[in-house]
Amino acid sequence: MTQLFFSEYEASPDDDLAPLRPLVIAGAGGLGREVALLISQLNAAGARWDVRGFYDDRVPAVPTVGSLPYLGTLADLNAVASPLAVAVAVGSSAGRAAVVSRLTSPHLSFPTLVHPTVDLRPEQRVTLGAGCIIQRGCILTCDITLGRFVLLNLGCTLGHDSVLEDFCSLMPHANVGGGASLATGVYLGTNATVIHQVTIAAGTTVGAGAVVVRDLPAHCTAVGVPAKPTGKSEL
Ligand SMILES: CC(C)(COP(=O)(O)OP(=O)(O)OC[C@H]1O[C@@H](n2cnc3c(N)ncnc32)[C@H](O)[C@@H]1OP(=O)(O)O)[C@@H](O)C(=O)NCCC(=O)NCCS
Repeated sequence: MTQLFFSEYEASPDDDLAPLRPLVIAGAGGLGREVALLISQLNAAGARWDVRGFYDDRVPAVPTVGSLPYLGTLADLNAVASPLAVAVAVGSSAGRAAVVSRLTSPHLSFPTLVHPTVDLRPEQRVTLGAGCIIQRGCILTCDITLGRFVLLNLGCTLGHDSVLEDFCSLMPHANVGGGASLATGVYLGTNATVIHQVTIAAGTTVGAGAVVVRDLPAHCTAVGVPAKPTGKSEL
């Protein structure tokens, strides 16, 4: 796990001298285009990513996605012959984990991408794993741990001492209270809230707008206020 005290890509006086770093996006859907936008915002703040295009097993109907080219399947990406950074832009927790499990080439690396306006300062003591993506408007307070490939979509908040294990996914404006704990692959729909000290077990999906006030078991879907399991399994 990487301990990051500042955004990895905060501008520094030497940035003009730094080499461009090639990067591609795995996932050519809507989230992929939003991640491309995030990277252009990072570059505007002084990062040096050279975004080459998109990989996806679903071949898009047109050869460009946004303004970037479609470059091939995940097998093609795994066969690259030189170092390449990859942003995995797949919104579902299980889908993202499945993509990452296939990207085994030693040439591939997975940077943490944090929007330049998101505060990550030493006094916050935030720990981020490789491959995390944190979008504009997120607020993280202090003593927070994120595992690998955690996705915080636009405007999420994380309170003190919260823990989000690998492949958790928070959709826009989801909120996690102090000391709450989300196990591997938990997915929070847009505007969902998890109150303080609650634990959600692995692979559970929380519906849009739900409020989780009690611990939830693994691999269920929970909706409503207060959130209750529906009897359906994870997405
Ligand atoms: C909870 C969720 C995962 C369920 O999806 P699903 O398994 O396909 O469920 P369905 O759409 O078939 O709905 C099943 C039932 O749950 C209800 N339901 C679905 N989502 C709900 C929600 N968020 N809150 C309350 N009830 C919900 C439906 O009305 C339906 O009720 P009914 O059986 O009485 O008609 C999904 O609706 C959801 O909220 N996903 C979050 C999506 C999101 O935030 N995306 C952000 C993208 S940026």
